[in-house]
Amino acid sequence: MFDAYQIRKDFPLLGREVNGRPLVYLDSGATAQKPECVIECIDRMLRENNANIHRGVHHLSAVATEKYEVARETIREFIGAEGREEVIFTAGATASLNTVAYAWGEKFLHEGDNIIISEMEHHSNIVPWQLIAERKGVEIRVLPFDDEGRLEVEKLDSLLDDKSRMVAVTQASNTLGTRPDLKYIVEKAHSAGAVVVVDGCQGIVHGGVDVKALDCDFYAFSGHKLYGPTGTGVLYGKRELLEQMPPFMCGGDMVDRVSFAKTTYAPLPLKFEAGTANFIDAVALGEAVRYVKKLDLAAVEQHESDLTRYAEQQLCEIEGLKIYGTAPDKCSIVSFNIEGVHHYDLGMILDKLGVAIRTGQHCAEPVMTHYGVTGMCRASLAMYNIREDVDALVAGVRRAVKMLR
Ligand code: ALA
Repeated sequence: MFDAYQIRKDFPLLGREVNGRPLVYLDSGATAQKPECVIECIDRMLRENNANIHRGVHHLSAVATEKYEVARETIREFIGAEGREEVIFTAGATASLNTVAYAWGEKFLHEGDNIIISEMEHHSNIVPWQLIAERKGVEIRVLPFDDEGRLEVEKLDSLLDDKSRMVAVTQASNTLGTRPDLKYIVEKAHSAGAVVVVDGCQGIVHGGVDVKALDCDFYAFSGHKLYGPTGTGVLYGKRELLEQMPPFMCGGDMVDRVSFAKTTYAPLPLKFEAGTANFIDAVALGEAVRYVKKLDLAAVEQHESDLTRYAEQQLCEIEGLKIYGTAPDKCSIVSFNIEGVHHYDLGMILDKLGVAIRTGQHCAEPVMTHYGVTGMCRASLAMYNIREDVDALVAGVRRAVKMLR
């Protein structure tokens, strides 16, 4: 049985007050709070195990290296990757996606090719593609969503052709909560000879992933949204693609032999892990994944989905309130606006009441453009949220609306 009240006890920050009120944290889509075990792991690593990995013959370096590689294995198993070579530690999903766009794009994109990007992507799965497309003379095609927030995957047929090389798509929209039919997208893309990169930032938190079953070619996520530390993330890539790609960042640890005449690179995954890795936090990300793995993910999913429905029902009763993103099977993200009320003002008043939501464009300006708005309010719910959080949000919104109208 999943008990959110029990789970909350693992997250010390949830017990604090903000502006003299008990904190109601509804911004986990931006970053999740951390369980005690992750906080303790960082503390322990710094106090007891801090030494540079892959470099020293001394005891501490060996211990830190072992812990780093164990974290990689924990994550490999969690995402269903075949080999450790396919799991690359990065600074976050943005770094992962930039690595794919730059390194894969450098090798595989040529003038006249095209890339398909969904309209609901976060900027980090749009802008890196625009840069490489400009350099290489590649066309960008947009896979649209409808007003409900459903990705119109059936339009892929008219977008894909023999010049299509990549489809870039999210597992779950950070603004609309939509979870596109990835299996269908991967099959369509592959049958046209294109590869698929999935932004798993929001999706991995709500239901996990099995990259092998999905058969996607690349998968990116950030650690800090998965109850892990900031500055961590993962790029999964199929080994045969990663092997053919040139390195992205270059420096120590990613080389085999270096001379002024010729340099050769380290084998995977180190080829893409230049410089001193953020090994302290990577180990703590492994701890976060271990924490999540112990949970009944289906029960977590059910809890979040019930809470989302409850939030939407309550919010919809407020006059003039519009929810963006009502696709079936959406994850626990509720974006909305209220007629006559600016999203920023609403966010400010809620903050005074101790309720934290995100306001603005959510790094997804094309979504705002789709609906003709300058921004939205977004409540993103995590497993540690409870009905009382939703009640506080709804009461706060009602109060704010009275003041602002
Ligand atoms: N990408 C993060 C969000 O959706 C920061 O809020």
